[in-house]
Amino acid sequence: MIANNTSEKIVTIEIRRQDGPHNPSRWEKFAVPYRPNMNIISCLQYIAAHPIMTNGQETTPPVWDAGCLEEVCGACTMVINGHVRQACSALVEKLGAPQKPITLEPMTKFPVVRDLFVDRQRLFNDLKRTKCWVPIDGTYDLGPGPVMRQRLQEERYPLSRCISCGCCLEACPQYTPANKFVGAAIISQVRLVNTHPIGTDMRAERLDVLMGEGGVADCSKAGNCVQVCPKKIPLLESIAAVQHEATVYSIKRFFAR
Ligand code: SF4
Ligand code: SF4
Ligand code: FES
Repeated sequence: MIANNTSEKIVTIEIRRQDGPHNPSRWEKFAVPYRPNMNIISCLQYIAAHPIMTNGQETTPPVWDAGCLEEVCGACTMVINGHVRQACSALVEKLGAPQKPITLEPMTKFPVVRDLFVDRQRLFNDLKRTKCWVPIDGTYDLGPGPVMRQRLQEERYPLSRCISCGCCLEACPQYTPANKFVGAAIISQVRLVNTHPIGTDMRAERLDVLMGEGGVADCSKAGNCVQVCPKKIPLLESIAAVQHEATVYSIKRFFAR
């Protein structure tokens, strides 16, 4: 704990700053007055309003992304004390503050826009590439959807909780800026839409993509993804299910020639 002249408790925040995608990074240290139950976003808001480092030098307000502030949009995902997670649900007390300093870094698998703000477009492009949607189109009333067995609903519901945060991609040794691996989030979303009674219409198109470059065969099953997923999605189960589905599909396709 660092105390100032009014004996106020201080949270020390160290941020890896980067002015743009091609600029070098640097560390800056800030002192934030502690308040009970504060989270990392509230620390960043304080720093943005008071951009003065602990050495007394003024700097620019740090940049980060956030939307929902309740771990739903995934936008505030960053590396906190070396672990990838959402800043909005990271309470400083649980990170050891005010006794210990807290480090904030941008995710490393996506291009840095500025400071802690990264561009997750690759993830969204891969969702498009694998057609991760249920093809229900039209402006007219489509009537009730197909009936789904309760067991299938229970299997699919956990998969639907994905917030496209990118934690699983950040932790995955196979997902790098230099390759095209889609990663666990996309594979799990393919499982979700492939098991929908209408989504199944596009199953073959999705499996064709996942059997190509950067597809499901590139997973080494290290399991890092499942450990960091904030929504506890059974990613290894999804990977195994989609790998099985792809194998059966390729055998059937071979004999259908
Ligand atoms: S099991 Fe390992 S290689 Fe496969 S997606 Fe998860 S972290 Fe990546
Ligand atoms: S699977 Fe989990 S870790 Fe990966 S993007 Fe979805 S919510 Fe985030
Ligand atoms: S701001 Fe949406 S997940 Fe944190």
